[in-house]
Amino acid sequence: MRISKLFAASLTAAITLGPGITWADGGAAAAGKKVFARCKSCHTAEKGAPHRVGPNLFGVVGRTCGSTDFSRYSPGMQSCAEKGIVWDATHLEKYIVDASKFLEETTGKKGRGMTPQKLNAQQLADVIAYLESLQ
Ligand code: HEC
Repeated sequence: MRISKLFAASLTAAITLGPGITWADGGAAAAGKKVFARCKSCHTAEKGAPHRVGPNLFGVVGRTCGSTDFSRYSPGMQSCAEKGIVWDATHLEKYIVDASKFLEETTGKKGRGMTPQKLNAQQLADVIAYLESLQ
């Protein structure tokens, strides 16, 4: 039942969203796009769009942390880049919920500017699916 519902949601997403968001991203990416509204005050998500308070997030999944030409990365994020940590769902889950904590635990240095995001588990999974769709 649950699976067929998800399947139906995926089909709907593929039909209504058009190019850029594919069938495989399913309904989660579409739901995640809505969650991303709360990230937009600081982040753009379109290819080549300018950085805001935080870096542009197009293609962030699979990319080394802190590796865009954003000029205001914190010491924690610079250290994250030096360590070559690559953004995947596991790292993003921890980072989005509490960016400073993630950076201090992984690099021993502080993050800056990214406030803890209060998302429930579903919203978190959906917003990560959305970030994954930005390729
Ligand atoms: C108040 C502004 C603000 C909000 C809101 C915000 N961010 Fe950020 N974000 C930042 C800043 C600033 C950085 C860079 C942090 C640093 O250098 O320590 C960042 C970094 C990131 C990175 C790492 C980017 C890279 O180049 O490695 C990701 C991923 C990210 N944010 C995701 C999100 C998501 C998803 C949301 C919404 C759920 C969100 N952010 C909401 C300010 C924000």
